[in-house]
Amino acid sequence: MIINKKHNYLSINIIFLLLLIFVELCYANDDLLNTKISNKKYRILGVFGHYGKSHFDVFKPLLEELANRGHDLTVISYFPRDNNSELLKNYKDIGLAGPDDKFLNIVDVKDIKHSPLTPILEVLYLNQLSAKSCTTTFKNKNVQKLIKSRDVKFDIVITETFNTDCHVAFSSHFNAPLIGISTHVLMPWTSSRMINPDNPSYVPSILTEYSTNMNFHQRMINSLIFVLSNFIYDTITTWKIQDIVDDAFGHDIGRLSDIAANTSAILVNTHYSLHGAKPDNPNIIEIGGIHIKPQNLPNDLKKILDNANEGVLYFSLGSMIKSSSMNNETLKEIFEVLGNIPQKVIWKFETDRFDWIPPNFIIRKWLPQSAILHHPNTKGYLGHGGLLGMNEGISGGVPMCLVPFYGDQFVNSAAAKKRGIAEIIEWKNLNAKTLKLAIDKIFNDTSYYENAKKLQKAWHDRPMTPLETAVWWVEFIARGNGNEYLKTSASSLNWYQRYLIDVGIVIIAITFFIISIMYYLLKILLRIFKYLLSSNAHDVKKTN
Ligand SMILES: *[C@@H]1O[C@H](CO)[C@@H](O)[C@H](O)[C@H]1NC(C)=O
Ligand SMILES: *[C@@H]1O[C@H](CO)[C@@H](O)[C@H](O)[C@H]1NC(C)=O
Ligand SMILES: *[C@@H]1O[C@H](CO)[C@@H](O)[C@H](O)[C@H]1NC(C)=O
Ligand SMILES: *[C@@H]1O[C@H](CO)[C@@H](O)[C@H](O)[C@H]1NC(C)=O
Repeated sequence: MIINKKHNYLSINIIFLLLLIFVELCYANDDLLNTKISNKKYRILGVFGHYGKSHFDVFKPLLEELANRGHDLTVISYFPRDNNSELLKNYKDIGLAGPDDKFLNIVDVKDIKHSPLTPILEVLYLNQLSAKSCTTTFKNKNVQKLIKSRDVKFDIVITETFNTDCHVAFSSHFNAPLIGISTHVLMPWTSSRMINPDNPSYVPSILTEYSTNMNFHQRMINSLIFVLSNFIYDTITTWKIQDIVDDAFGHDIGRLSDIAANTSAILVNTHYSLHGAKPDNPNIIEIGGIHIKPQNLPNDLKKILDNANEGVLYFSLGSMIKSSSMNNETLKEIFEVLGNIPQKVIWKFETDRFDWIPPNFIIRKWLPQSAILHHPNTKGYLGHGGLLGMNEGISGGVPMCLVPFYGDQFVNSAAAKKRGIAEIIEWKNLNAKTLKLAIDKIFNDTSYYENAKKLQKAWHDRPMTPLETAVWWVEFIARGNGNEYLKTSASSLNWYQRYLIDVGIVIIAITFFIISIMYYLLKILLRIFKYLLSSNAHDVKKTN
């Protein structure tokens, strides 16, 4: 018996051993195919030339995770890691900020003007920022050193795809594939050059305030903006920066628009559950919510939130807008309405301006926004429609009341309203009456809450987390296995071929031709028929 048992163990052991060898072989085989996830360490260059803090908040988790996984990072940006945070040795910073640069609470609400011309003015403004961003980047001594050093090599270049193409030049200079990250809905020119479908009949431009359902008037404006913004970008913006870049590299780097069009993949901080389904090329990857990670509440706030049985309204206009630039009248009306609701109001406001605040208010200069929006007692979010806050609100399943100010805040708010989770108040119409109406709606009409919970489920139900998705794509592009297959053949066609205008013209011409022939044939037949009739009548007369 005993011997038998031993024998059994032995055979089981042998089977295990064989299994192990088999598994090892499979992995070895995987290595051969170069698909086993990340053994190889890549040298990664990140170039982020825009000073928006909320933009960098999207890149940061990806860059840090790549460094955590052992890749070597060099990051050019306005936001170097400070020396106190855990230093990742393989994450090197090249800072662009000057000593006097300020990045937070810099937008005065008195400067906010919204008009039908706003989309075009914004493109012109972004165009100014583009030139500035290029000059700052390439005037930087450390950047120049990086360009001149002969022994520095990179396997991949990551850059922001927003208002300028000058940073894509690094991809051409280092002969490394390029990945773009968009912190918002794709800019019109990004889609256009990637030849990614963005039919203006149902894809609202980021420069508009429309949702995916547009009436005739809106489709007309959306199409005009689509054409005009692309035109301005492809001419003025592109033309301005090419010289700056050629000078910086000391040789002809190639046309920036061509390099940008050769982007291997674009990671976009959106999710179709909010902004609407649309067709995308296989290298346009949604990573909406990548910046969200579990966040702790400080004890005092935790107590306040835990005990808020009537619920909490979280109020913040984001990191850029200076809440204190609101005039006293507006502040008074906000206190009047929000001071009289049963919920607690937790407000991020960057100064100590108030002598008195309503008893249900808690005002702080900084708040752990994501933790608050994920607390079960938070039942409403009064915000500005900035995408990071929106993503956190959706992830937390919170109904919203949105007051968009500039940029993509309008299109984000419109998307949330379309999903039935938000009410929108125009900034110029923000007063006690409109605020009360909107706040009562999102708290007292349960459909907003139900829709928010439904959207929350759709938002979270994905094959991988946004961060895992982004990391996988960066390593995939670095491995280079699929890069050449990711592009559609659309780039080999002229625009009139792509929109089938040549085919359409020929079909219309042929149809027209056939119809005219039929028309003339019919006419001749009729004439013959008439002739026959009349000659018949003639004959009849004659016989009479
Ligand atoms: C970090 O430390 C380095 C040298 O140790 C110093 O040159 C740099 O200015 C410091 N950066 C910040 C943001 O304090
Ligand atoms: C496009 O990028 C790839 C790297 O991903 C590079 O090998 C190729 O030469 C580039 N093509 C052009 C036309 O620049
Ligand atoms: C607004 O209110 C603050 C304090 O409540 C006061 O110091 C300030 O003078 C007021 N501003 C105007 C323009 O009335
Ligand atoms: C909702 O309705 C209740 C009474 O039905 C009211 O007391 C409350 O003020 C309303 N508004 C909010 C924001 O809860």
